[in-house]
Amino acid sequence: MTESSANKPANGEVCHRTTNGVKPCRNGFVKNHYQQQQHQKSCYLEEKVYHIASNGGLYSRPFLESFEQTPMLVAVLTYMGYGILTIFGYLRDFLRDWKIEKCHIAREREEQKDFVPLYQDFENFYTRNLYMRIRDSWNRPICSVPGAKVDLVERASPDYNWTFEYTGRVVRDVINMGSYNYLGFAENKGMCAESAATVTECYGVGVASTRQEMGNLDRHRDLEELVARFLGVESAMAFGMGFATNSMNIPAIIGKGSLILSDELNHASLVLGARLSGATIRVFKHNNMQSLEKLLRDAIIHGQPRTHRPWRKILIVVEGIYSMEGSIVRLPEVIALKKRYKAYLYLDEAHSIGALGPQGRGVVDYFGLDPRDVDILMGTFTKSFGAAGGYIAGRKDLMDYLRTHSHSAVYATSMSPPVVEQIIASMKCIMGEDGTTIGEAFVIHPALISFL
Ligand SMILES: Cc1ncc(COP(=O)(O)O)c(C=O)c1O
Repeated sequence: MTESSANKPANGEVCHRTTNGVKPCRNGFVKNHYQQQQHQKSCYLEEKVYHIASNGGLYSRPFLESFEQTPMLVAVLTYMGYGILTIFGYLRDFLRDWKIEKCHIAREREEQKDFVPLYQDFENFYTRNLYMRIRDSWNRPICSVPGAKVDLVERASPDYNWTFEYTGRVVRDVINMGSYNYLGFAENKGMCAESAATVTECYGVGVASTRQEMGNLDRHRDLEELVARFLGVESAMAFGMGFATNSMNIPAIIGKGSLILSDELNHASLVLGARLSGATIRVFKHNNMQSLEKLLRDAIIHGQPRTHRPWRKILIVVEGIYSMEGSIVRLPEVIALKKRYKAYLYLDEAHSIGALGPQGRGVVDYFGLDPRDVDILMGTFTKSFGAAGGYIAGRKDLMDYLRTHSHSAVYATSMSPPVVEQIIASMKCIMGEDGTTIGEAFVIHPALISFL
């Protein structure tokens, strides 16, 4: 991959290309291309040229991302605030040690004072001295469904946030910035809730067995067929929990003697799955293709440590949209790299499925790629579908293998029927197969995509 110079627009904003080998912003981010001004059009065209050139025709649209930088004053004031609270925290801990101030949080018991301390790590210090003072700013109980607006239970604290009492009042219609009910399907009224209620009357709530034994319902099969059709792949499997979909299936796919290349900002469930697998894990910088390519090259050249035998498998693990940063994986480039170095790709679409792409089919749809280029597609039903659980999708032989080898398929109880029904109803709505036109509202017109 060749190096090329970055563009400097008139307003002094540095406009980097999204290329491998091109000087990126922090962690390879593309920076602030949003406004449609003249200088940005030149970046735009160069991006397009690059993607066509470097990905062998895989992707011909420009890939633009915008990230707001923290203003210096805000950063300085925040760090100063934390510094002051930390100094006062140490002072108050000193007073608590001498029993001058009352301590409300778990402490070492007197009879265990000679043991290695259980609670004296920094997290405990942080909770006691910093978090407790500010927790009421966002940590409020909700008493409604997690829609665009929520109702809060009002409460008051007589002792500076250590304990709370409910006043009996409800604060209504507060804007919800916390839940991931992206398309508004997590409701207690409407089409999805009604079909879930109907199915509950017929099937009940609990299945009381695993898919391998007596918990395999026709609705589970319907769901898996629908997911496979939605994603455009041969087959799919559904699991009762998104977190377990990652943490239990990665160990079934890969093990000792293999290598996992993991984005540094991957979700905890991916990290846990990678650790449980026993494979060697190497971490690349977030969404940074130079960093990923270097690890791939090193892995091929040097093989396993000490023996230098080739790795049995190399698995690249990325997410579609990174939930905390909002960044979108550079999928065309990841696919180009995985093909060049003959690695496998595991894509977690927890936050992108349903919410991204002209037809809501995730990051693969967003980039207009072939889903068969991703070896293992994973996603959750907790976000856009307003339900619970996760899926793995891809080739039929992979699904057949997972049905017998994945711990969450063999040992975990099957999904609850109303949850399955909620997913089927919301997915059909997105696909426009529910007999309504509601799903059309979620479909982004292709002409608009280049502006997103
Ligand atoms: C990227 C990613 N993968 C997996 C999960 C776990 O999914 P669930 O919450 O459905 O268990 C999450 C949860 O937010 C996530 O962000």
